[in-house]
Amino acid sequence: MRDTVADFLGKNDFSIQTIEVDAILDHFQRDMTAGLRGEPASLAMIPAYIGIDHPVPVGKPVIVLDAGGTNLRTAVLTFDAAGKPTIGKFSKFAMPGTQGTRATARMFYDALTAFLAPVLAEARSIGFCFSYPADITPDCDARLIRWTKQVDIPELVGAMVGGGLRDALAERGYHVDITILNDTVATLLAGKSSGLLRRYSNYVGFILGTGTNTAYVARNADIRKAPGLDPAGAMAINVESGNFNGVPLSTFDRLFDATTADPGVGTFEKKISGAYIGGLGLVVLQCAAREGFFSKAAADELLACDNLPNKDLDDFCDNPFIPTGVLSDMSFTDDDRRLIMELCTPVYERAALLTAINISAAVLQTGSGEDPLHPVCVTIDGSTYYRTKTAHLKSRVESHLRDILGSRNIHYELINIDDAPMIGAAVAGLTR
Ligand code: BGC
Repeated sequence: MRDTVADFLGKNDFSIQTIEVDAILDHFQRDMTAGLRGEPASLAMIPAYIGIDHPVPVGKPVIVLDAGGTNLRTAVLTFDAAGKPTIGKFSKFAMPGTQGTRATARMFYDALTAFLAPVLAEARSIGFCFSYPADITPDCDARLIRWTKQVDIPELVGAMVGGGLRDALAERGYHVDITILNDTVATLLAGKSSGLLRRYSNYVGFILGTGTNTAYVARNADIRKAPGLDPAGAMAINVESGNFNGVPLSTFDRLFDATTADPGVGTFEKKISGAYIGGLGLVVLQCAAREGFFSKAAADELLACDNLPNKDLDDFCDNPFIPTGVLSDMSFTDDDRRLIMELCTPVYERAALLTAINISAAVLQTGSGEDPLHPVCVTIDGSTYYRTKTAHLKSRVESHLRDILGSRNIHYELINIDDAPMIGAAVAGLTR
């Protein structure tokens, strides 16, 4: 079976052995440099207008609003003298425009103001972690470039999201300062502010959750598309790495991309992140079903399935006898079960390799890490990274990183901070 599966995947350009790591790394770095210069590139390379060296005030509360792909979270944070955060008044709501329902701009701002209402008396500033591609202004407002993660609020594309929220709050009598930042920039800041005893040479923030993205710190002198910056300074850059287009698409990637709300966009994200890997795996299974790989009953059920959440596929590949999820209701023989594991584990193996290439490109782009005294700090956040069981995703990424960065003598440290996006948003709200 293994050879037949390998032939089938190879024939559809889905063979991990053919991924050219060095060429993709070069392409990634070329696109990062071009994006910073304002030249055409698949990477938006968005300056965050957030420095990373401001001290965090002790004991001063800040409101955090965290708009992710699935949830909206609100909380009030304070930091102690050692930089340790306390998260209070935490609440979680569904993100408007998700779960298959379209929302209007009004609905979005109404929902945000209602969710914020119980904490608005606690502080005057809001650190707003906005996990979507958005151009940031020097005063840290954000113009939404496009939605990702299949969020459906079309009216907001092109709008200033911070200004909209400020106006909606002002209508209700609340006057606040809002600092917007991307979740990867927040994750990077959380790593920077965590008071670790190491002396790092540079910082990267990486997220692999519902979506994926990367931030790192660039020298202002290299951000040629933003003239007028202090050339001696540095700032965080939101790479928008989910839109990287330097990895060839397999037949399955093309077929799957055509089923999404935004074909041709975010094709890297669609290969590695939680909103998509289940759907991609389903396409692999359906193509295999059409080629006669499965029993008749299994093939019919797989072909009739129109949504396979990543969690269900991951749970199944980890334990095909688990009693929950979309696949648990289907009539599989043991051979069908083995086939699903054989066909879909490579989807996760490829995601791990591409994730490692992505993180490596950002670390190399910092130009730091040669000195073992001062490694690059890579703060990683996201449920897909930490919770995926199939292919031992996290440890596979770590192993690829040792190969790619270790062979280049680059020193780095991977760190995990609980609630990094919220903590980083609080830091930004307090220090701007
Ligand atoms: C968005 C990024 C975000 C990432 C992780 C992507 O879909 O484009 O802005 O950082 O998801 O949440």
